[in-house]
Amino acid sequence: MKRYTFRIRRHDPEATPAERWDTFEVEMSPTECVLDALIRIKDTLDSTLAFRRSCAHGICGSCAVMINGKNALACQSLIKYLPRKITLEPLPALPVIRDLVVDMEPFFKANEPMMPYLVNNESPPERERLQSPEEQKKTLESVTCIMCSCCTNSCPTFWYDRKFPGPSALLKAYRFTFDSRDRAGDERLAGITGPHGLWRCHSVYNCVETCPKQIDITRHIAELKRLAVRKRFGK
Ligand code: FES
Repeated sequence: MKRYTFRIRRHDPEATPAERWDTFEVEMSPTECVLDALIRIKDTLDSTLAFRRSCAHGICGSCAVMINGKNALACQSLIKYLPRKITLEPLPALPVIRDLVVDMEPFFKANEPMMPYLVNNESPPERERLQSPEEQKKTLESVTCIMCSCCTNSCPTFWYDRKFPGPSALLKAYRFTFDSRDRAGDERLAGITGPHGLWRCHSVYNCVETCPKQIDITRHIAELKRLAVRKRFGK
């Protein structure tokens, strides 16, 4: 066990406009993760600390926070890879509800114009609509997104343009547009190629660097852009 110092940005906007930093000393084993530390702090040092978590296995996406300046999942961030002083902050681009809990509503709302569902009005076959392995491979990486919002919270365009849907939502648009069973690609592209849409992605690659599932989000968005150009959806 080694002693780690956790500096945590605290804020309760309903109680006070002022933020504060609290410091906690915690004994940690190298195989534990940042989420273990948060749970230990809440259980033994300060029960008022607010943070989100559910699965603790990198699946639900709810424990995303900023760890030493980089957005990451607390449950996937092993202590042995971190320095002895660890700074924890809420995700930077969404309103803070309390401490490390942010309001995910704007993030989820940005998915609505992406039409995040399959559209196909052709008569269904007798059994399910089939895909070839090649067709399925086209969307395989994009379906592994857990919607933790690490990418969108690291996107400079999203920081200054709140009408920009963000990389996660655009990845969702890719996931359905490039699905061989979908027929709403043109409708989807028409909805995302406006002045605050697809073209606002400047391929900064922050989203790729921060994605806990190692999805090459920028490549997927680039493919969407290429399709939009081919189909003459202008800027
Ligand atoms: S608690 Fe589910 S991803 Fe971390």
